[in-house]
Amino acid sequence: MKNKSVFKIGFIGVGTMATAIVRSLLNFGTREMRIYLSPRSKVNTQQLAAEADYVEVMDSNQDVLNQADWIVLAVTPQVAADVLSQLKFERRHHLISLISPISLKKTRAMLPEWLPINKVIPLPFIQYGKGPILLHPYHKGVVDIFDELGKLVVVETEYQLDVLITVTALVSPFLRVLSETVRWGAEHDLTLQKSADYTLAFFDALVDMAKRRDINELLDLWREMTPGGLNQKATLSLENKDGFSIWSDALDTVLKFFTADDLKD
Ligand SMILES: NC(=O)c1ccc[n+]([C@@H]2O[C@H](COP(=O)([O-])OP(=O)(O)OC[C@H]3O[C@@H](n4cnc5c(N)ncnc54)[C@H](OP(=O)(O)O)[C@@H]3O)[C@@H](O)[C@H]2O)c1
Repeated sequence: MKNKSVFKIGFIGVGTMATAIVRSLLNFGTREMRIYLSPRSKVNTQQLAAEADYVEVMDSNQDVLNQADWIVLAVTPQVAADVLSQLKFERRHHLISLISPISLKKTRAMLPEWLPINKVIPLPFIQYGKGPILLHPYHKGVVDIFDELGKLVVVETEYQLDVLITVTALVSPFLRVLSETVRWGAEHDLTLQKSADYTLAFFDALVDMAKRRDINELLDLWREMTPGGLNQKATLSLENKDGFSIWSDALDTVLKFFTADDLKD
């Protein structure tokens, strides 16, 4: 039986992602909790332990399991099998794997068949309580943990998980569009700061506006432009250079690469 009054969560691996999740729990988690950290990555663990008295660094990975009910596996794919093989799970445990390249089927094959396992794929923005968090399969307890840390998106299959992880490959391309736009302003009589102030507030408001619209309108929002106006001129200029279809082509390329990874089944 899980202790219903105090939520006990442990992290095996305390790198970029585990650190971001713990910070999010500290800032946005509303339940009374205890957080147990595995002993490596001393800089991260010591900083986190200094941020709240209910964060504790344990002497070993097994010590994390001995204290926590919910276990977050946050090591790299390369060491996951070795790390898991040394852990002794109990019936009260629930494993949350962050390791996107290792399928649930493969993860289950390394563990007792009765152990409940979910995949959760957050992004580093989780530390600010923002951004998407993928979950598969649905589990009420896991939803309760992550729902308050960002925008939780539950998917029905691992393929859907892979498709949405593929979207994260647009971080650099998107930041490149942002960079090119800000730079363009700075090359046209503006300071970099003024150009950035305007452009960042503009893109931020565009996404906010899109979020407020009905889902059925989303795909056609771009059509809302004045004939012969500024937006139509920019759209035509980009269409003439195939500037839009190349984005889904890029996503297809990444998905193919990602789903063909050796680590997948
Ligand atoms: N970064 C992202 O944006 C992101 C997003 C979604 C999912 N993920 C997934 O999340 C997982 C973690 O990613 P990350 O970026 O946080 O990686 P990371 O920063 O490299 O962190 C990995 C952590 O695992 C620790 N570790 C290595 N061997 C260990 C062992 N035997 N026992 C305990 N801890 C051990 C490392 O400690 P040392 O530093 O001491 O080696 C480090 O703290 C990966 O599987 C990745 O696929 C990452």
